[in-house]
Amino acid sequence: MDTLFIGKNIVELESVDSTNNYAKELLAKEKPLEGTIIFAHEQHTGRGQMGNAWKTEAGKNLTLSFILYPDFLDADKQFYLNMAISLAVKDFCESVLPDEIKIKWPNDIYWHDKKLGGILIENTINGSRISSSVVGIGINVNQEEFDEALPNPVSLLQISNFNFKLSNLIEGLSVFIEKYYLQLRQLHFNFLDKGYTVALYRYQQTHEFKKGEQILRGEINGVAKDGKLILHCNGKESRFGFKEIEFVI
Ligand code: BTN
Repeated sequence: MDTLFIGKNIVELESVDSTNNYAKELLAKEKPLEGTIIFAHEQHTGRGQMGNAWKTEAGKNLTLSFILYPDFLDADKQFYLNMAISLAVKDFCESVLPDEIKIKWPNDIYWHDKKLGGILIENTINGSRISSSVVGIGINVNQEEFDEALPNPVSLLQISNFNFKLSNLIEGLSVFIEKYYLQLRQLHFNFLDKGYTVALYRYQQTHEFKKGEQILRGEINGVAKDGKLILHCNGKESRFGFKEIEFVI
């Protein structure tokens, strides 16, 4: 592994409920090395954002969690960790694809209008700091058929016609995670902010959003420091939290 500390320790599991659950159970018992990866060939109860399930076919995808200790980061700056990881996954996907990848706010990985991957970060806060973080990443790799309930999935294979070796991808992804995590550790907030903003799916474009039963039309102007989406709607700027608004795709 061509990294300083990410992925130096890899726990490889044949099957698990969720790699994030496994990582959290490990953290409750001991203090694993920073950068430890929990990777599962099969994840039978994978978890996504907003309590959704993350369903993937065994042996064909990346389902893994990284254990980090971003104790240098104030809890009110936790969205920067989200930015760093989203940028790492985006750059990694672009490194194996001939095409541009976008970040659909807050942290879905998109190719055109299709979802290639997702991120679930679970932080433990101690006082005003983040004492540990479980960074769960799911990337659709060699899967060709998806659950019909999923609205718009896509895999690396479907985009590139190339069948990928998962172990090579773990190494590649780790290099990008480390690159951006080191930027975060050096508190390079502006660098992360700028990179994340220009990588946003539908940045500075006008589209429809769903807010409860209401449909809004607005242009994405950026993301606030607390992670809220800044939309320009009806001549004024409004900010929305993750649970308040949904993209219409
Ligand atoms: C989302 O888009 O809703 C986030 C999906 C995150 C899925 C990954 S797969 C590895 C890790 N373990 C989990 O249970 N979830 C994350």
